[in-house]
Amino acid sequence: MTKHSTILITGGAGYIGSHAVLAFIDAGHGVVVLDNLSTGVRRAVPASVPFVRGDVGDGAVVADMIKRYGVGAVVHFAGSVVVPDSVANPLEYYRNNTASSRTLIQACVDAGVSRFLFSSSAAVYGAPTRVPVAEDAPTVPINPYGASKLMTEWMLRDAAAAHALSYAALRYFNVAGADPAGRAGQSTPRATHLIKVACEAAVGKRPHIDVYGDDYDTPDGTCIRDYIHVSDLAAAHVAALAALTENRTNLVLNCGYGRGASVREVLAAVQKAADRPLDIRAAPRRPGDPPALVADVAAIRRTLSWSPAHDDLATIVRSALSWERRLAAGTDVA
Ligand SMILES: NC(=O)c1ccc[n+]([C@@H]2O[C@H](COP(=O)([O-])OP(=O)(O)OC[C@H]3O[C@@H](n4cnc5c(N)ncnc54)[C@H](O)[C@@H]3O)[C@@H](O)[C@H]2O)c1
Repeated sequence: MTKHSTILITGGAGYIGSHAVLAFIDAGHGVVVLDNLSTGVRRAVPASVPFVRGDVGDGAVVADMIKRYGVGAVVHFAGSVVVPDSVANPLEYYRNNTASSRTLIQACVDAGVSRFLFSSSAAVYGAPTRVPVAEDAPTVPINPYGASKLMTEWMLRDAAAAHALSYAALRYFNVAGADPAGRAGQSTPRATHLIKVACEAAVGKRPHIDVYGDDYDTPDGTCIRDYIHVSDLAAAHVAALAALTENRTNLVLNCGYGRGASVREVLAAVQKAADRPLDIRAAPRRPGDPPALVADVAAIRRTLSWSPAHDDLATIVRSALSWERRLAAGTDVA
């Protein structure tokens, strides 16, 4: 793909998608956004970017956008992301994540769009027995969310074998932080991710923070996760699209930093950045939470011309807190 064809970004009004829109624009690409605004916000997409409010599962809308804007690649973020909701409403997750992705992939195949980046997740690994976890580890999701993502990876694998399609499935670990220039951040109203939730507590939007389990077999007893700055993740998408364009080889890559931070370390970083104590409460373990989930990042480092620019917990937390303060002050306009 040349920079003259347009990239269709689904879910571009959401948290990660809005950062990717900025990263692709910054890299000189033309982008258009399709989002149904179920969790995204219109103001997260710059006014200069063509925006269609519509559903990825609507094949006619997708086909029309591909034709109208001369789309040469799709970057697919749109989906439902709350793991416990997927347990309560599995069929809704298979509809919005798996069935809608099938429609989108079909539209790409029909229109000859030959490059496809997909937001996959570390949830495809379930509760891995060994960490760091590499891409060839068994994929045994333990909830419908992870299964819905894995099924989409399978559709892409099989469609790429049968049609002129190359794809990258990027398996994100824990995404956090906000654009360092303050242009974007996470605005999701019912966010469940630790750093976001802790920053909400730091600005007074939540009374306290629950720590789900402090008796795990980890150094401080709390769960360890691999937190990746959202702007580094967005840059990885730009690099992955360049790799697909150059090599036409399908990619399945972990996106993380290859080391973890515990819940207590994250909360300490938030308290330090906010310069105030948080009301931290012990709560029972959540079923299915593995003690440690850290990416083996050898493949992404080897395959993409990408290296992280914000690989530091304090930096991630400061950017997230700064965005949370802007949200609280109502100055979060893109
Ligand atoms: N946040 C993380 O830590 C994380 C980790 C692993 C994978 N992911 C994946 O990354 C992607 C983006 O996640 P996010 O955290 O930015 O979530 P988000 O909820 O902020 O963004 C999702 C966006 O997709 C839109 N959307 C949802 N269903 C749609 C549909 N059918 N048609 C059109 N638009 C639709 C929403 O309105 C929203 O703007 C998701 O696919 C998610 O599964 C996220």
